[in-house]
Amino acid sequence: MHNDEIIEKAVLYARRRMTAVKPSHGWDHVERVTELAVRLARAEGADAFIVRLAAILHDIARAEEDAAPGTICHAEAGSREARDFLLGAGLDGEHARHVADCILTHRFRKARVPATLEADVLHDADKLDAIGAIGVGRAFLFAGEVGAKAHNGNIDVGKTEPYSEEDTAFREFSVKLRHLKERMRTAEGRRIAEERHEFMVRFFDRLDLEHRGEA
Ligand SMILES: [Fe+2]
Ligand SMILES: [Fe+2]
Repeated sequence: MHNDEIIEKAVLYARRRMTAVKPSHGWDHVERVTELAVRLARAEGADAFIVRLAAILHDIARAEEDAAPGTICHAEAGSREARDFLLGAGLDGEHARHVADCILTHRFRKARVPATLEADVLHDADKLDAIGAIGVGRAFLFAGEVGAKAHNGNIDVGKTEPYSEEDTAFREFSVKLRHLKERMRTAEGRRIAEERHEFMVRFFDRLDLEHRGEA
């Protein structure tokens, strides 16, 4: 089967699989990650076909994880599902495995480190969508979804429960988003992350000042 046809099928499949996912992690996130991943692939000399497929399919099991947090890992479940889908769509075993491995490691956990350039590219593109102006936007979308606040100056951000009403977009920034640029694995990813990071830090510093009535 022609590569373009497989891409087309993957888009239809992933779109359908993501209809129940909350807005902070929805289909528009996948579209942005795909655009960024292809851009990074070109800059880094990675296989753009593998990267595009992996990006399109990377969060297909997100709804299952949201429904059973802590028991299902969307990277693991999504990797298996993507491999089966791709084999069924006519992709050969080697390429299907390569795409599945990128999806398995996109989250980066100790035991699951990206092992190919294409996996590094997907990982970086996914993290880049969590920082910069878009990262700020998504942090507030996410806070709204869990009933959290914009900021809460009276709490110790390190001790707040994530995904709770005590949670804040500021906490998400302090404990997670501000460290993402250190985790970039490609040169182009690091370059884009620097710019996005700088904008995001300026925004949250200002938010903190305004929250305390100091600006
Ligand atoms: Fe993901
Ligand atoms: Fe993602």
